[in-house]
Amino acid sequence: MSNVRPESMERITTEALAQAFIAEQVEALRAQIGNKKVLLALSGGVDSSVVAALLIKAVGKQLVCVHVNHGLLRKGEPEQVVKVFRHEMNANLVYVDAVDRFLDKLAGVAEPEKKRKIIGAEFIRVFEEEARKQEGIEFLAQGTIYPDILESGPVKAHHNVGGLPDDLQFELVEPLKFLYKDEVRVVGKALGLPDGMVFRQPFPGPGLGVRCLGAITRDRLEAVRESDAILREEFAKNGLEGKVWQYFTIVPDFKSVGVKEGKRSFEWPVIIRAVNTRDAMTATVEDVPFALLQHITERITREVKGVNRVCFDLTPKPTGTIEWE
Ligand code: XMP
Repeated sequence: MSNVRPESMERITTEALAQAFIAEQVEALRAQIGNKKVLLALSGGVDSSVVAALLIKAVGKQLVCVHVNHGLLRKGEPEQVVKVFRHEMNANLVYVDAVDRFLDKLAGVAEPEKKRKIIGAEFIRVFEEEARKQEGIEFLAQGTIYPDILESGPVKAHHNVGGLPDDLQFELVEPLKFLYKDEVRVVGKALGLPDGMVFRQPFPGPGLGVRCLGAITRDRLEAVRESDAILREEFAKNGLEGKVWQYFTIVPDFKSVGVKEGKRSFEWPVIIRAVNTRDAMTATVEDVPFALLQHITERITREVKGVNRVCFDLTPKPTGTIEWE
């Protein structure tokens, strides 16, 4: 099948167009898959969630979703995947708690690209193990979207399933491969996925692992996760969710002196990053109201264990990248 979006394909901008796309895809997926089984790595990101919802509609329990919790997801994300897909959509979902495996492999590794490689390789290993446990899988579904094809060839790099061994070569199922991101969101909404899943900000494959700078430790990773949750909650409450392109916190691997409850403290800082961009190649910093930054600072230093300072990153891209690693 061609990898070029047909010129005749109308841009999916409305619920009605999304429903027509869904009906057409459901038919095509049923024809392709028949009564066989399909495997999908379900991260909970927009693309894999929409693929899952589409396949559930088309082939129900013939879809086996594998959600690998590598310990680097945001607060509440693994729980949301289980709630939405297992409990609400009644999907066949395998939840793999691989937190210890990933964190043990990452222990003591400080170099960013090494960390990324370990996370990617371990993901393939865990997914492969789960694939081998399943009987009769013939298809592998992927949340490939059109920009992935334009940018990186046939296999969605950050889904990390490009490296499966030869004896696990399944036929690919890629129902979103001609859609742009905004169209995927319209389709996701039409499929009944929650807004928190469909309209979420971009999140890197290695997750919080690249925001817990240097060698990851469990306590510092928790500080990243908790401060990120506070930032997201406050941005949502103050109308910045959906307005700011990407926002998150970073916890570096050094401490500074402070004072807490009248005593000297020696703890980590949290750095807040909030940026806007069109294509992630360049980015500008969001002008976050100072009073809100003060409130977030107050909450993070009070609620997050091991943190005594909050800083705001004023650097555009270039010279900074969006992530710190
Ligand atoms: P940078 O930091 O390069 O980020 O300015 C640009 C965009 O890419 C995301 N990003 C990643 N996404 N795997 C991913 O899937 C990665 O290793 C990775 N590193 C950065 C980043 O969050 C931003 O949206």
